[in-house]
Amino acid sequence: MTIAMRIMISSEEIQAKVKQLGEKINAHYAQSDKELVLIGLLRGSVIFMADLCRAIEKPHELDFMTVSSYVNGTTISSRDVKILKDLDGEIRGKDVLVVEDIIDSGHTLSKVMEILQTRNPNSIELCTLVSKPSRREIDLEVKFLGFEVEDRFIVGYGLDFDQKYRHLPFIGEIGL
Ligand code: IMP
Ligand code: MG
Repeated sequence: MTIAMRIMISSEEIQAKVKQLGEKINAHYAQSDKELVLIGLLRGSVIFMADLCRAIEKPHELDFMTVSSYVNGTTISSRDVKILKDLDGEIRGKDVLVVEDIIDSGHTLSKVMEILQTRNPNSIELCTLVSKPSRREIDLEVKFLGFEVEDRFIVGYGLDFDQKYRHLPFIGEIGL
């Protein structure tokens, strides 16, 4: 099956942005004597995380968690997340950088941040490659942001449609 794909963000643009984000992250954590840990949400963040971590000079750990977001109640704000796979390591006292592929409504990440905060890290910040601000239902502070995009369904560079297209080196819009 062939599918029409319009490139929205090229591989070159993504690589340049990842390098920039790495520089900002380096500068932000340069003065901290705490351990740094990057936390990726599986599976969407994997490709971004793999490139981003190589743009960060400060030695750091990588850890991953899997969550699923579900509606718990009848209103849109009564969403909850369930941890399907928790972190392998401790984050107490560490500088935590949560790495995500895309923020849409913001529900998933806001709950994840809440959960991680209860584990008493030294600091916790968010880095996302893509954000769709017009879709936001919950306010979230994103310290390190790659691209803001319109409300379109996009795939590639970790983002999937039905678990496929994560491998694409660019971010594209599927023509339906
Ligand atoms: P939310 O911010 O809780 O609404 O959910 C964000 C999650 O929805 C992301 O981690 C993606 O898995 C998924 N998602 C949102 N928009 C897109 C898209 O355009 N393409 C692929 N996945 C998306
Ligand atoms: Mg995701």
